[in-house]
Amino acid sequence: MMRLFAISLILLNAATALGAATWNAEPFNPASVPLAVRSPYLSAWLAQGQGTALNDAWPTFWTGSILGWAGLAKVDGQAYIWMGQPGIPNVNTTKATQQSLQITSTQSVFVMTAGPVDLTITFLSPIEPSDFVNQSLPLSYYSVSAASTDGKSHSVQVYADISAEWVSGDDTLIVNWATTTGDVLSHEVKLAIQTTYTEINDRIQQGSAFHSTLNTVGATFQTGEDVVVRAQFATNGTLSNTQDTSFRAVSDRWPVFAFAHDLGAVTSATSPVVYSIGHVRDPVVQYIIVNADTQARSSYFWTRFASIGDAISTFLNDYPNALARANAFDAQVKSDASKISADYASLVALSIRQAFGATEITVTKNNDGSLDNSNTLMFMKEISSDGNVNTVDVIYPSWPLFLYTNATLGKQLLLPLFEYQTTGQYPNQYSVHDMGAHYPNATGHNDGKDEAMPVEESGNMLIMTLSYAQRTGDLSLIKIYFSLLDQWTQFLITDSLIPANQLSTDDFAGALANQTNLAIKGIIGIQAMAEIAKLNDDEARASNYSLIAASYVQQWQKLATSSDGSHLTLSYGDSNSWGIAYNLYADKLLGTNIFPSSVYDMQTAWYAEKDNAFGVPLDTRHTYSKSDWQIWTAGTVTSTTVRDQFVRAVLNYASDAKNNQPLGDLYDTIDGTQVANSGHARPVVGGHLALLALANAPTGSATGPTGTTGATGATGATGSSGSNSTIDTNGLNPANSGLSHGQSDGSTLYVSLGTLAAILLAGAPL
Ligand SMILES: *[C@@H]1O[C@H](CO)[C@@H](O)[C@H](O)[C@H]1NC(C)=O
Ligand SMILES: *[C@@H]1O[C@H](CO)[C@@H](O)[C@H](O)[C@H]1NC(C)=O
Ligand SMILES: *[C@@H]1O[C@H](CO)[C@@H](O)[C@H](O)[C@H]1NC(C)=O
Ligand SMILES: *[C@@H]1O[C@H](CO)[C@@H](O)[C@H](O)[C@H]1NC(C)=O
Ligand SMILES: *[C@@H]1O[C@H](CO)[C@@H](O)[C@H](O)[C@H]1NC(C)=O
Ligand SMILES: *[C@@H]1O[C@H](CO)[C@@H](O)[C@H](O)[C@H]1NC(C)=O
Ligand SMILES: *[C@@H]1O[C@H](CO)[C@@H](O)[C@H](O)[C@H]1NC(C)=O
Ligand SMILES: *[C@@H]1O[C@H](CO)[C@@H](O)[C@H](O)[C@H]1NC(C)=O
Repeated sequence: MMRLFAISLILLNAATALGAATWNAEPFNPASVPLAVRSPYLSAWLAQGQGTALNDAWPTFWTGSILGWAGLAKVDGQAYIWMGQPGIPNVNTTKATQQSLQITSTQSVFVMTAGPVDLTITFLSPIEPSDFVNQSLPLSYYSVSAASTDGKSHSVQVYADISAEWVSGDDTLIVNWATTTGDVLSHEVKLAIQTTYTEINDRIQQGSAFHSTLNTVGATFQTGEDVVVRAQFATNGTLSNTQDTSFRAVSDRWPVFAFAHDLGAVTSATSPVVYSIGHVRDPVVQYIIVNADTQARSSYFWTRFASIGDAISTFLNDYPNALARANAFDAQVKSDASKISADYASLVALSIRQAFGATEITVTKNNDGSLDNSNTLMFMKEISSDGNVNTVDVIYPSWPLFLYTNATLGKQLLLPLFEYQTTGQYPNQYSVHDMGAHYPNATGHNDGKDEAMPVEESGNMLIMTLSYAQRTGDLSLIKIYFSLLDQWTQFLITDSLIPANQLSTDDFAGALANQTNLAIKGIIGIQAMAEIAKLNDDEARASNYSLIAASYVQQWQKLATSSDGSHLTLSYGDSNSWGIAYNLYADKLLGTNIFPSSVYDMQTAWYAEKDNAFGVPLDTRHTYSKSDWQIWTAGTVTSTTVRDQFVRAVLNYASDAKNNQPLGDLYDTIDGTQVANSGHARPVVGGHLALLALANAPTGSATGPTGTTGATGATGATGSSGSNSTIDTNGLNPANSGLSHGQSDGSTLYVSLGTLAAILLAGAPL
């Protein structure tokens, strides 16, 4: 999942480290601000570092390569720059001054002062998990409104352009473009030579970028050389409504694609000028089917729209409603997360766009070209650590995001893995690691030589499959793929109590035999299969696997506890070693409760003592840790103080101004810098929602405290309203736990599998 070749620390580019930010930030200044983040190829950020304003640097792709994106305004004839770093020869421009930055789950909002006028620039990347069409649109909004700050009226015109850097990772390649006019003004720019499914520097060499706006009164457009088009606006306040048709390389007299709007005389806040920015391609993914054939898959949104023009027009006209939906979503997430803590709400707000931005929802085309949404699959790019497709141990850490927003999305992510392995083309007995070595090629691993993480991925698949069924009541994955699930379970029964020398998801730390945390995952995987068998009316198998899991827990506890009984080891027999046992989270998430509460209490006390400035190390081999696994671990501790300590540490890192890349999950707990050559912008930050996902977890207890905060899902269904915090562990105690599976003493094992009804009620779908 994440290969780490060299460990060194990222040094901030001195040019962008301008000292502490001078503006108000709500809730905090992140290392990099999401601007337009909706797919693996629509991923525009402001690398903020220690205080880079919207007009102190160019926006960048998640890799750090520049995306030309300029914003200008004229106020009473004076030209101001509010975004990017456009140089305009022979024109007197002034930089607007950034006053504030506000981050929510869907939006980044800047207020920039341009003389006597404040410009409010809202970047909105919708998160619409309940509507696959809306969620799959690779379009993002940004809008600009103006308000006078001195009570007087001022003449205001606004301008925005993009360059052709939005369509290639190689600026020497030739692009062409066209502008359509009508109710919508839309610039399309694309590579002259398209190469399907191919990347250069992580940029897809296929499809088009679209920069569009409503053709309101006073709107003008222009395409042409950057300095020419920008000077036209900066001197005149309008564009020429002309197109440059001298197609050329991205960097040859840098063609830009611009709009201007005249807001007239401005006093109170104007209605916003609304733009959309997108990167659209078709097909999006190639996917392996039987006989090693591949299938070309298209974005789900085509099921509702006949043309991209229709989609863009609908999208732009829907802005007021989309903004209202986004505000409601943001408020719901904030309210739910605030029930944990204000720190937690801050961390979650930065995580959601990044995680969804690695995904695409797809359908197939029928022979006549119509779309077939009966076969919907979601794909995820393992961004930055490598380009793997639907990596099981990347979906797994991000899983809480899907449980919280819409568990059906999780099913769509698992389906390719199930379908592929059911074709029989994958030769290994354990679960495949990923669907393909590089996005967007979901072409499988028929040679069986994918990165082997046998216990890791087999356990992950079983745990996610059961949690999906618990949250939704949909047993289709269980019923259709039962024999595959059972196959993986056989592997776990053989290899999880004494795990062979192998990699876990934390592959950068190297292979190791007898990993305590990996054994936890394997054993929970076996118990998950017991629950799955129960749901499939296979009682004999259910009780057999439950007995095996319970017996393994008992043996594991002896193998995995340090000789002085103070902590779990990193690997068996090495009493001086330890690590964060984040895999216990699944025992809480599923309500399986097979690990005794004493283990949770012991670990909680241990973590309390091991907290560096930026968190608890992953294990004793290094001082680094993972942000996702720390929040998972926060979901396992039995003290709110220790839970909050984890959250605070990760937030300290996310807000420490020592990094300038989209949030990275692997970082040093002592100095708070991201580990170089490792992951940033990865979807695993969906794991930061681990505490939210627990709120609706089955508790394994019909009578004890519910262990939930009563947090509600994004769509409004309420969870059970427990009186105690999410980390209450009373439900772990078999003595008061009607549905739990455990052992009453050393000799007699008892297993009482809960009824489906009780489990589903406890885990009411969002
Ligand atoms: C540029 O504009 C600013 C603000 O109007 C003004 O103070 C400055 O004198 C101008 N500079 C030049 C060289 O015209
Ligand atoms: C999840 O997505 C599916 C498909 O769009 C939809 O039918 C369902 O209502 C969604 N559920 C929630 C909780 O949003
Ligand atoms: C999806 O977007 C359309 C506009 O294209 C909007 O009318 C609809 O309400 C959205 N769907 C949901 C579930 O919000
Ligand atoms: C995807 O596969 C095609 C061959 O079908 C290949 O040309 C292309 O380079 C691959 N893309 C990536 C990103 O590896
Ligand atoms: C400004 O607009 C006027 C009228 O449209 C035009 O004559 C003039 O050339 C423009 N100036 C610049 C610098 O483009
Ligand atoms: C793993 O642990 C078991 C049980 O303690 C032990 O027998 C075995 O030698 C260990 N394996 C390695 C490679 O250390
Ligand atoms: C329980 O499962 C194990 C592993 O599949 C199998 O070897 C054993 O025969 C099963 N026991 C019973 C009683 O079915
Ligand atoms: C759990 O909730 C009950 C009822 O609100 C309260 O009396 C008790 O102090 C709480 N326990 C903890 C550990 O917060």
